[in-house]
Amino acid sequence: MEQTLSIIKPDAVKKHLIGEIIGRFEREGLIPVQLKMMQFTPEQAASFYAEHLGRDFYDPLIDFMTSGSSIVMVLEGEDAIARNRALMGVTNPEQAEPGTIRADFAESTRLNCVHGSDSVASAEREIAFFFSQS
Ligand code: CMP
Repeated sequence: MEQTLSIIKPDAVKKHLIGEIIGRFEREGLIPVQLKMMQFTPEQAASFYAEHLGRDFYDPLIDFMTSGSSIVMVLEGEDAIARNRALMGVTNPEQAEPGTIRADFAESTRLNCVHGSDSVASAEREIAFFFSQS
């Protein structure tokens, strides 16, 4: 079994998509094993997205991620990292496959509803960022 970090971002929480998105994960066998609702502080957002510091989208990304509550969760399942990313669709919703979360619900490359770890190393780092070892 593999674990990945998933975030339901403030745009999706505001649009009442928490149940819809978690339902898609559960129906595909990606099961939340840790979960919390939180509003990112500017410090948490800056640290989480440190790799993007200096990019033109960085400041608006921090503003967006601190603008409201997010759901942060650990999803567990076979091949969880890749399968979560397949369910999300690519970053730009206009290029995302029909039926993916971003194609169905995201407004833009920034307001893109969900985050998912992109590698085993990222998943370990991101899970440790939000959850202590259980
Ligand atoms: P996420 O998967 O959370 O990782 C980095 C985030 O930065 C990404 O989703 C988008 O929300 C945002 N992002 C990445 N590229 C761009 C871009 N070109 N323009 C605006 N936002 C971006």
